[in-house]
Amino acid sequence: MKNKINKLFNTLWEQYILLAPQALEIRNMFQSTQNKEIINDHIALRTVNSDICNIEVLSKSFIELGYSQKENFNFENKHLNAYCFRHTNDIYPSIFISELKLNEMSDYVQEILNSSILAIPTEVLNSNNIVSSGRAWPISYDVYTKLYEQSEYAAWFYVFGFAVNHFTISINHLETFTTIEEVNDYLKGNQYNLNTSGGEIKGSEEVLLEQSSTLAEKIDIEFSDGIHKIPSCFYEFIKRHKDEKGILYNSFIVESADKIFESTN
Ligand code: NI
Repeated sequence: MKNKINKLFNTLWEQYILLAPQALEIRNMFQSTQNKEIINDHIALRTVNSDICNIEVLSKSFIELGYSQKENFNFENKHLNAYCFRHTNDIYPSIFISELKLNEMSDYVQEILNSSILAIPTEVLNSNNIVSSGRAWPISYDVYTKLYEQSEYAAWFYVFGFAVNHFTISINHLETFTTIEEVNDYLKGNQYNLNTSGGEIKGSEEVLLEQSSTLAEKIDIEFSDGIHKIPSCFYEFIKRHKDEKGILYNSFIVESADKIFESTN
């Protein structure tokens, strides 16, 4: 089981750093300050609420490895539904899977994404590799820009499909950084741009959760109508606090996560 979990996370990490080479630099930069291995708080995946590949379908890969479904989150303005999945062994990161509510989208968005996902081979849908299978359909820049106007999330999924949207460094487990401000200063001092939507730090010690993230870097993507630079993946940083009973907060806050989503804008 342990080998299978590590193998899956390695596959997801390798795919992620191909889409966001900056993430490898950032990880190495933080790792160079630590004696122990960096711990991931969570990883996030994006999909659509079609029966073909909704949260339930994607989560099978993790459920088989000992994860179980926990809290549900609703992002009304972004037309997203999400679930958190946690492992019984808390050294493994949580999995945050969101899905776009296609039924709340325009006919155009529904048509494009519904026809795109029909191209996913059945053997991929039935396998545990679906979560790292990327995109099975052709893409055009013209369609991408039209989707982007209606939903940044729809446009991102159209181009990248099934891939980790972000890994998240657990600040609680860093030996040489205590506060999220120190982490942010280290990133900015090394010329990385942070997502400032809703402020550099989302949340606070009072609400037991503080989060920040880099802005997704732009990479060249080959569309049917040419090569274009678009935002890919980002890196998140999280600091969790204990409540008055001494229990470490282990969930997510909708208002903060809502702003984190904007790291790919
Ligand atoms: Ni996150």
